[in-house]
Amino acid sequence: MADVRPLLRSELLPPKTSARRHLISIADLAREDVERLLALSRTFARSLERDVKKLPTLRGRTVVNLFFEASTRTSSSFELAAKRLSADVMSVKSSGSAVEKGESLKDTLLTIGAYDPDVIVIRHAQIGAPHFAARFTDAHVVNAGDGKHQHPTQALLDLYTLDEELGGVDGLHVAIVGDVLHSRVARSNVQALVLMGARVTLVGPPPLIPRGIEAMGCQVSYDIRDIKEADVVYVLRMQRERMVEGANYVPSLREYTARWGVTPERLRPGQRVMHPGPMNRGVEIDPAVADAAESLVERQVRSGLVVRMAVLYDLLTQGPVEVKVAEIEEVA
Ligand code: CP
Repeated sequence: MADVRPLLRSELLPPKTSARRHLISIADLAREDVERLLALSRTFARSLERDVKKLPTLRGRTVVNLFFEASTRTSSSFELAAKRLSADVMSVKSSGSAVEKGESLKDTLLTIGAYDPDVIVIRHAQIGAPHFAARFTDAHVVNAGDGKHQHPTQALLDLYTLDEELGGVDGLHVAIVGDVLHSRVARSNVQALVLMGARVTLVGPPPLIPRGIEAMGCQVSYDIRDIKEADVVYVLRMQRERMVEGANYVPSLREYTARWGVTPERLRPGQRVMHPGPMNRGVEIDPAVADAAESLVERQVRSGLVVRMAVLYDLLTQGPVEVKVAEIEEVA
């Protein structure tokens, strides 16, 4: 039986543990891990309804955000999440840092390591950079996006959004549309949605759907009309920054929009629409769809804050979730 006695605020700083736990891929999570993180996110959402939104929970802990690739949503929400939990936060972006002078990732990590961080949140264009980071730091590592490989906190915040808006994911049919080939969001979401019992169909032009991706437990369609059958349409950006120069994935962006863009006409009434952002309005998504009442895009951004609070808290604490939730509620 879990000990759920009220705790004093001074007891809330989690003990440093020797366990090294990272969040690098959705593939590392079991269903119960996802459920624990979603339960924690709901608790943090309640704490944010208060006038005073800051919790003392991670006071004395240090979170370093290392962003070697552009970001608005992920970098800002991790920073705010750490601040809302009273951690000390340091944000380093490659632009304006010693990376521009030729410093290697290893040397940047060793430099940051001198400050004894508890968590390093890393975004990098290279697949495997978070694994690499985990070799050169004692901190917990969170993957904030590595190339076209993984973006686990995006998938978690999408699950949280679906849970809150549609009452769950089990049995839901989600169509993920667009540039799947270059998308870490698609890969993480397929794994997360399938893990939680959803049916996933990937829809797009053949050159942008990786061959054999059905092995991840999803279906594939090359017919945009099939998105009408889904409960949720999840739109992906054309990730031109990851495309091989000179490769002809689609004849032109104009052609892509005409054949694959998500427009009001291609949806049925009431279908919910998601997009991880940043959106290219008028390319993969019609502005009327992005701004419609059925769009969950802003909701996704709001979810990002509480889910990232939950991830940071979960990494830095041990023990059964009932105790954690009781701790947070006692403080809130
Ligand atoms: N969804 C997402 O990762 O957005 P950013 O690139 O702005 O962080």
